[in-house]
Amino acid sequence: MINQVTSPVIEVHDLTVSYDQSPVLWNVDLSLPSGKLIGILGPNGAGKSTLIKAIMGLVNPTSGYVKIFDHRLEDVRNRISYVPQRESVDWNFPASVLDVVMMGTYGKLGLFKRPGKKEKEIALGCLDQVGMMSFVNRQISELSGGQQQRVFIARALAQEADLYLMDEPFAGVDMATETAIFQLLKDMTAKGKTIVVVHHDIHSAMNYFDWIIMLNLHLVGSGPTELVMTEELLRKTYGGKLNLLTKVTELIRQKDFNPLKN
Ligand SMILES: Nc1ncnc2c1ncn2[C@@H]1O[C@H](COP(=O)(O)OP(=O)(O)O)[C@@H](O)[C@H]1O
Ligand SMILES: [Mg+2]
Repeated sequence: MINQVTSPVIEVHDLTVSYDQSPVLWNVDLSLPSGKLIGILGPNGAGKSTLIKAIMGLVNPTSGYVKIFDHRLEDVRNRISYVPQRESVDWNFPASVLDVVMMGTYGKLGLFKRPGKKEKEIALGCLDQVGMMSFVNRQISELSGGQQQRVFIARALAQEADLYLMDEPFAGVDMATETAIFQLLKDMTAKGKTIVVVHHDIHSAMNYFDWIIMLNLHLVGSGPTELVMTEELLRKTYGGKLNLLTKVTELIRQKDFNPLKN
């Protein structure tokens, strides 16, 4: 099932991506609406990170192409913010929390302009939004995984982008923080931002996202949560891992969730 979208923010056309000549994403075609909180679901190795990287131009597709805001990526890069998976980052790099979040403001500065008072204020405001104000001068290497994740989200906020691509932003984050950040992302979509999040928990995904992409090397589904979150598509996506699904499919049967309630 592929839902057509008018004025899509992201269009992925017949995208195939390979590493060492073996494809890990096959012929993915999708378009995504603006102003929504969008989840990417799929098992480990499904190609979720690869899809985000391909959208960001960080991996070259074997075939196909991506358009963002109806433009080529190069023309709109400064309107996009990317939060990589936490494990892919060198956290021993000597930098303070404030340094890292200030980096988020660089894209909007001219080539020869240094960040100043205004940028610092933006950075502090973003740290406040993720509850990290008391860690401003801490080295990033000294933070817990969940705190590092929050700093990364603050850096993304400081970019003041229109489109956010976040790879497992809730990994290693405690439940209270996850709920707070989710609310923050929800508020951002209410202001017209589009947020695409790779997420590992099917259960919370039902409540969090307006729109869900289900991926397992091929695109299984992409559409409004209430249309895509079906037992059939979950089984296609997660295959034999039925234990994991039992609880979720039970909930779907009971119609014990309503994605519109948030
Ligand atoms: N740089 C790489 N080189 C070779 N294989 C890779 C590389 N990155 C990812 N892969 C492989 O591609 C597949 C999809 O990976 P990935 O997109 O990271 O999946 P996910 O994020 O859904 O767990 C996996 O089998 C993974 O091992
Ligand atoms: Mg991944």
